Amino acid sequence: MDYKRKTLSISILSGKGGVGKTNIALNLAYAISALNSPTLLIDCDLGLANLDVLLGVTPQKNIEYLLKPDTKIDDIIIQLKKGLDFIPAASGVPELVEWDDDLQTSIFKKLNQEMKDYHFIILDLGAGINATVLNLASITRFKIVIITPEPTSLTDGYALIKVLKKQHNIKDFFIIVNMAKNIKEGKSTFKKLQLACEKFLSIQIKFLGLILEDKNVQLAVINQVPLFEFKKDSQALNNIKEIALKIMKFREIVLPELTLPFNLDFILKKNNT
Ligand SMILES: Nc1ncnc2c1ncn2[C@@H]1O[C@H](COP(=O)(O)OP(=O)(O)O)[C@@H](O)[C@H]1O
Ligand SMILES: [Mg+2]
Repeated sequence: MDYKRKTLSISILSGKGGVGKTNIALNLAYAISALNSPTLLIDCDLGLANLDVLLGVTPQKNIEYLLKPDTKIDDIIIQLKKGLDFIPAASGVPELVEWDDDLQTSIFKKLNQEMKDYHFIILDLGAGINATVLNLASITRFKIVIITPEPTSLTDGYALIKVLKKQHNIKDFFIIVNMAKNIKEGKSTFKKLQLACEKFLSIQIKFLGLILEDKNVQLAVINQVPLFEFKKDSQALNNIKEIALKIMKFREIVLPELTLPFNLDFILKKNNT
């Protein structure tokens, strides 16, 4: 086994849909790779894959092609720019909204084995708490939960954290508050979730950062260009760049313990008991 690779795998999660996961995954990937860190972005939202739409690309192949024995990772990777690669998902295929455990194991085993020397792999996941989302969160090292100041986003975010703690014994969560009107609203949103997690789940969630509401995010979506390219000096992008720096620092701290990108133990153990 090749343990030279020091890849930090990151999952982008949320209880509720429409909170900004895909835009955050995309622009974090751009921001991190721009800091000289080779990054791979994978669309794992099996129900509503839309990174390709935000990028304005029409992929010919997607992640499920990895299930074919003769397909190599290089066959499905799209290079977005130097140091930034992308693997699209299949979309709009209702029976594939979830992958069973065997399918997940085959895909992520192959990714573990053939992966290049990325510093970061970012998974954009679907919203909610289906088994695929929970498994894919479990196999990543760094879990980011996105919430917004909307009460439903908070309760759904809490529900997701609760299920991951109870079913998968995960306790380390990093929170991004997106679409806050100001810093005060963002901080108080985080505090509410923090208090609930402390009181009812006995876990300490960590504040990763906040992203202010910024119409440039919508404009970038409409133009199908990543915000990172569309409006370099925008508020939301500046917030995302700060978060990118924090994530880089986290990788430095855990560097000695990083081995393969995905820890498949959870899925494998589950099926042995
Ligand atoms: N910081 C922000 N400011 C303003 N609008 C935002 C922001 N983040 C996301 N949005 C809006 O929310 C919509 C949904 O975002 P998306 O990334 O697709 O969410 P998700 O992947 O969680 O479903 C985007 O199309 C965009 O219009
Ligand atoms: Mg999305």
